[in-house]
Amino acid sequence: MTHVTIVASPQAPSQADFVWLDEDDCARMAAQLAQSLAPLLSNDGSVFMELHGTLGAGKTTFTRHLLRAMGVQGRVKSPSYAVVESHEAGDVTVHHFDFYRFNDPQEWEDAGFRDLFAAPGLKLTEWPDKAAGLLPTPDLRLHLTPMDEDQRTVLWQALTARGHAALLGLTPFGAQAHA
Ligand SMILES: Nc1ncnc2c1ncn2[C@@H]1O[C@H](COP(=O)(O)OP(=O)(O)O)[C@@H](O)[C@H]1O
Ligand SMILES: [Mg+2]
Repeated sequence: MTHVTIVASPQAPSQADFVWLDEDDCARMAAQLAQSLAPLLSNDGSVFMELHGTLGAGKTTFTRHLLRAMGVQGRVKSPSYAVVESHEAGDVTVHHFDFYRFNDPQEWEDAGFRDLFAAPGLKLTEWPDKAAGLLPTPDLRLHLTPMDEDQRTVLWQALTARGHAALLGLTPFGAQAHA
């Protein structure tokens, strides 16, 4: 079942939910998002997205498919050890963070994370709760919940007009389009 609520008011966060039956669905939605992010990221645009979900939910996997769809070549490593992995997607710089092992707020300054968040481009963060109080307000939140090995329930929340615009590009596909 699919339920999409797009709330017009800019004050209210809009949200949309989907089901991914398998990783192919994850890849399809990543490709849709790559398309809807492109105009938001052109001309030094900036988008910040939080990725929520338990270990193994698919945060890194979704990011891999998204970056691939944006044109990133080569391996997309999980940033769980380095905290951040950076990529170039054409003209767009992407910083992919994982704060799972982040426990020293001093590192926020020392490692220059503040500057990375202030720079244009796409910023994605796994485990944002571990850096609570340091991160800016996200444009988008993705919440992934595993239902079984392959199936995920997927909730998107937009907190800004940019996030809202990005969500408008996401549409149900496959069997869900007829649900
Ligand atoms: N529908 C799906 N969406 C995303 N990943 C899936 C899906 N079904 C199975 N997987 C698998 O689940 C695992 C997710 O791992 P990963 O992306 O590293 O999780 P996280 O970064 O959230 O800890 C991968 O092995 C991926 O192949
Ligand atoms: Mg991960």
